[in-house]
Amino acid sequence: MGTLHVLNHPLIQHKLSILRDKNTSVKEFRELISEIASLMCFEATRDMPTEEVEIETPVAKAKVRRLAGKKMAIVPILRAGLGMVDGIVQLVPGCKVGHIGLYRDPETLEPVEYYCKLPNDIADREILVLDPMLATGGSASAAISFIKQHGGKHIRLMCVIGAPNGADKVLADHPDVDVYVAAMDSHLNEHGYIVPGLGDAGDRIFGTK
Ligand code: PRP
Ligand code: URA
Repeated sequence: MGTLHVLNHPLIQHKLSILRDKNTSVKEFRELISEIASLMCFEATRDMPTEEVEIETPVAKAKVRRLAGKKMAIVPILRAGLGMVDGIVQLVPGCKVGHIGLYRDPETLEPVEYYCKLPNDIADREILVLDPMLATGGSASAAISFIKQHGGKHIRLMCVIGAPNGADKVLADHPDVDVYVAAMDSHLNEHGYIVPGLGDAGDRIFGTK
């Protein structure tokens, strides 16, 4: 079974408090979601393997540590996952970026796929799936299934706000996947929105409402 990690670092919690506020502007919302993604990525990559290499400083030879093993791929779930991409690319500039297009049918709350383009060598990479909201878990679970169908093996899911239903579903459907959230909220309302949440993440990032 995978593990649910709640990354309640004070800096993340502070930024999240502003993100949730309904009076936060689109500009500020975009900046904050990117910053939160950066801080979360720092925590979610804490156990990445390193290896010793020898380099020469201007003063002497030195044994130093560098990232080892598989390179990273990030896969934002369109649309709202796009808001998390820049913050991670700033930390891991060499990462590849795949895209999965899913929207949640407003009546059934079931995910509907409309786009999928992943790096060819996805099977060899550490994969971080990005979506700000983990509500019923339908979208994240379907995205992880698509990635597995394309050969992806080493997958983590990173969401800003989660709900218990969503986290339970992903961990049950994909016992090999660890889930990282900045906060776990209490429940979903009758429209499938996370309570208290932050509203519709895609609309708040792109200013579409
Ligand atoms: C939102 C969100 C997730 C999904 C979460 O996307 O970004 O992808 O809902 O809900 P779930 O856990 O119940 O599946 P939405 O369908 O609103 O699409 P958008 O990103 O294009 O706005
Ligand atoms: N999608 C969102 O954007 N927000 C929610 O609260 C739930 C699903």
